[in-house]
Amino acid sequence: MRQPLVVANWKMNMTSPEASAYCQSLRGLLPDEATRAEVVVCPPFTAIETVRAGFAGSYLRVGAQNFYPASKGAYTGEVSIAMLKALDCSYVIVGHSERRLHFGETAETIGNKVKVAVEHGITPILCVGETMSERSLGLTEKVIGQQLLTCLKHLRPAELEKVVIAYEPLWAIGTGKSATAEDAAQLAKYIREKLYRLMNGNTDAMRVLYGGSVTPNNIADFARADGVDGALVGGASLDPGKFAAIVRAFEVK
Ligand code: 13P
Repeated sequence: MRQPLVVANWKMNMTSPEASAYCQSLRGLLPDEATRAEVVVCPPFTAIETVRAGFAGSYLRVGAQNFYPASKGAYTGEVSIAMLKALDCSYVIVGHSERRLHFGETAETIGNKVKVAVEHGITPILCVGETMSERSLGLTEKVIGQQLLTCLKHLRPAELEKVVIAYEPLWAIGTGKSATAEDAAQLAKYIREKLYRLMNGNTDAMRVLYGGSVTPNNIADFARADGVDGALVGGASLDPGKFAAIVRAFEVK
């Protein structure tokens, strides 16, 4: 049985003082003990320490949105995986479409990041998804299949089990127009099928999340969808009340 995972991706939002207030508020809205879902907040680098401290003594976890896959050295402005580990990050988002789009991240770079994260014991949340034009051309599965194979090619079967996959159709991100729960279930199934051979058939433990305009209003359908093990939440995660409501939807699956 896979434990649901609900991840907040704050993107470039929240100063450190704002993050501190958020943590206090979220802790007040969720039960003291973990009931079912694992809950992770991925703030900007500048608020990771604040969120770590704000969640101290609770089951809530902190993660990161990115890192640079070299161990250390002359990479001005970058942050290494060891730096994230030292801040108790247990997850890191990799290959988000905004990084592919605005920062020119290639499948090669993403594959490298996935490998480095796994080697350091931080779980990568690998984002995959199609554009609207790819979807209209019937290329959704082909595009996602290619993204999976290129970004995961450096991993051995046992390492693949440690990766979380987030299906985030690009047309659903920040648009208010989510995919349907049926779409999400179909893609979760496809993702497991695509990785079945590479993982020697051990795809049961691997978690697949849905992301893209998730809100408290539509989350119940995703929480019920077959093979969908949680959500990667952008805009709605900035409001502790909305994020707590999304987490609670997975308590009853
Ligand atoms: P929204 O929830 O704002 O659509 O963002 C989704 C996302 O990109 C999460 O990584």
